[in-house]
Amino acid sequence: MLRAIVAVDRRWGIGFRGELLFSIPEDQKGVFRAHTIGHTVVLGRKTLDTFPGQKILSGRRNLVMTRDEKLVVPGAEMIHSKSEFEDYLKAHSNEDIYVIGGEQIYSLLLPMCDEAVVTFVDDEREADVFFENLDVSTSWRIDEIGPWIPSVTGLTFRVLKYRNISKING
Ligand SMILES: NC(=O)c1ccc[n+]([C@@H]2O[C@H](COP(=O)([O-])OP(=O)(O)OC[C@H]3O[C@@H](n4cnc5c(N)ncnc54)[C@H](OP(=O)(O)O)[C@@H]3O)[C@@H](O)[C@H]2O)c1
Repeated sequence: MLRAIVAVDRRWGIGFRGELLFSIPEDQKGVFRAHTIGHTVVLGRKTLDTFPGQKILSGRRNLVMTRDEKLVVPGAEMIHSKSEFEDYLKAHSNEDIYVIGGEQIYSLLLPMCDEAVVTFVDDEREADVFFENLDVSTSWRIDEIGPWIPSVTGLTFRVLKYRNISKING
């Protein structure tokens, strides 16, 4: 199963100047880590650059997308094109794979995803990168809406699950 996992603000903003909009520990541990641990994550090279020390995520198989054929990231598998990723998917059809960003990689791979796990933060921040607004997309419908959760940061968020109905309908 291929899923996107993302944290958005009310305008579906996901980042600003190469950084995340929010740092919500309850989301990072209770949602992001809980979903992805033990599975495979696919991320863009620029998102990798935002991780401390450009280190991959531990406890997960990391696929890093870059067009740079020479780039080597210790512990990661490199993917150089959409078709290379499609080949990976075919060869690993029983893996749970999470698309974890950023904007370029979400927009490239979202049409292939079966589900999207969206942490919706009840706030508006200045953003320069966005996720597709699934609420107005004819390809996606809401499957589950979680309760509002207060964070120690003072922010409030909830987790929504969306299903790609264009894939179900073939
Ligand atoms: N809110 C969230 O949940 C969330 C999650 C993740 C990231 N973010 C935010 O998103 C922003 C980063 O997003 P971004 O769009 O700038 O970068 P990105 O998607 O993380 O990475 C872009 C890079 O991916 C590679 N790439 C893109 N298309 C490719 C293709 N078809 N084949 C092979 N490689 C390809 C290229 O790497 P090369 O240049 O090396 O060729 C490109 O520069 C940051 O602000 C980050 O904080 C937010």
